[in-house]
Amino acid sequence: MESTGKSSFVVVANRLPVDRVLAADGTPTWRRSPGGLVSALAPVMRKYHGAWVGWPGSSDDAPGSFSSEDMDLVAVSLSAEEVAMYYEGFSNATLWPLYHDVIVAPEYHREWWDAYRRVNERFARKAADVAEHDAIVFVQDYQLQLVPNMLRQLRPDLKIGFFLHIPFPPAELFAQLPWRRQILEGLLGADLIGFQREGAAHNFAALADRYTEATAEDHRIHTADGRSVRVQQFPISIDVAEITDLVSEPDVVMRTAHIREEIGSPEHMLLGVDRLDYTKGIGHRLKAFDELLAGKEITPDDAVLVQVATPSRERVEAYQTLRDEIELQVGRLNGEYGRIGQPAVHYLHSSYERPELVSLLRAADVMVVTPLRDGMNLVAKEYVAARTDLRGALVLSEFAGAADELGDGAFLVNPHDIDGLKRTLLAAMRIDDAEAEQRMRALREHVLHYDVTRWAEDFVATLRAT
Ligand code: ADP
Ligand code: G6P
Repeated sequence: MESTGKSSFVVVANRLPVDRVLAADGTPTWRRSPGGLVSALAPVMRKYHGAWVGWPGSSDDAPGSFSSEDMDLVAVSLSAEEVAMYYEGFSNATLWPLYHDVIVAPEYHREWWDAYRRVNERFARKAADVAEHDAIVFVQDYQLQLVPNMLRQLRPDLKIGFFLHIPFPPAELFAQLPWRRQILEGLLGADLIGFQREGAAHNFAALADRYTEATAEDHRIHTADGRSVRVQQFPISIDVAEITDLVSEPDVVMRTAHIREEIGSPEHMLLGVDRLDYTKGIGHRLKAFDELLAGKEITPDDAVLVQVATPSRERVEAYQTLRDEIELQVGRLNGEYGRIGQPAVHYLHSSYERPELVSLLRAADVMVVTPLRDGMNLVAKEYVAARTDLRGALVLSEFAGAADELGDGAFLVNPHDIDGLKRTLLAAMRIDDAEAEQRMRALREHVLHYDVTRWAEDFVATLRAT
């Protein structure tokens, strides 16, 4: 449906919640976009009935504005060159690795930076067009860090919030960025800047103090033009009701049982669900599983690993290399330990609908979440939400933001420590029902208490009060 109105609540994110894809016969259709940002914000937007400004995920002509699921979607077009330089380049080969502990080396190219600036300007203009007088504009994530200040220049009447879904690095890493001052100044255009963890808010305040004219005082930053910007932690969460509703659907209940049968009814099903990203520690997880099999601490009859690896950023070189490495590891594991009709690792390079994902979460005895660095990790919270039966165990990396809240009930692990990871996987597999229930209760207390609606309400209330 066409829509041309203005909104009092506008989300600006690199991606729209749906991607425009071409069917086999060439007709355009829509598919849910990948990643945690969309999972978290889509339910919030359905509630606020706002407008969502974003890129529809392909370099064809954008379709303009239209309505979907109670929100107005406003498309921003990117040319093929902009996709290569702004999205694949500066966003995902410069900022993403820099902000995730330089797990792979960030690349610094001036043409990428120019494209990033140009595209951020386009998003800012589109948001300025769509926002009503005095509206709230909520800008999302590392792809759009210049938008807050650009938007403030265009529309000083707006309340501007920014939330970073990924980690914000410490000074030793951030200082590498040739455009560090411009990024900090871009963010300081917001009235409120939210981070997943307290440490990130602290890193940002210290860097703004060091590299811009602003001065930081605890959670407030005073800018050179006399404004005050609040920086604060807002750990993001999930739509708990969406998951718990799905859990009780008869199709999901049936599918859960089928999944166990289809993988050969092992004693333990281990599950990983990640975008195929080098931050997720999939290789470390496979190595630990491999060594457990090699050492005969488990057998392929006892334990089967299902690894969903969602296709992601497939034209970026580091992602292509990672895919080759992971698929080599999976191939070796299955060659060594698999039998006909019974692989040791079920590797699924695909996107799934929500009911299938929830069925997998319900089927798994051990959820294995081992990122080397992760802003939050919503999959960990989704697993907890799905375990209304108070069963199952969560193995969680201490380097995921989720570890701050889920440390009590999860089996925390340092994924670089392969022996520790092996011990933790075994402990999680051998947990008895009473301990599993006790841990799951502790986990659920956190996740159910603070779902994504509360997260959004907290953020917006704080923004209004600035
Ligand atoms: P990231 O944002 O880095 O991808 P998160 O764990 O925070 O990581 O969020 C991932 C989101 O994507 C979750 O909501 C998860 O359920 C969803 N997801 C992951 N893999 C798939 C898949 N194969 N198909 C559909 N959704 C997926
Ligand atoms: C992470 C990022 C999001 C991003 C998502 C999927 O969650 O924080 O901003 O949308 O990954 O990545 P993609 O590059 O496909 O948008």
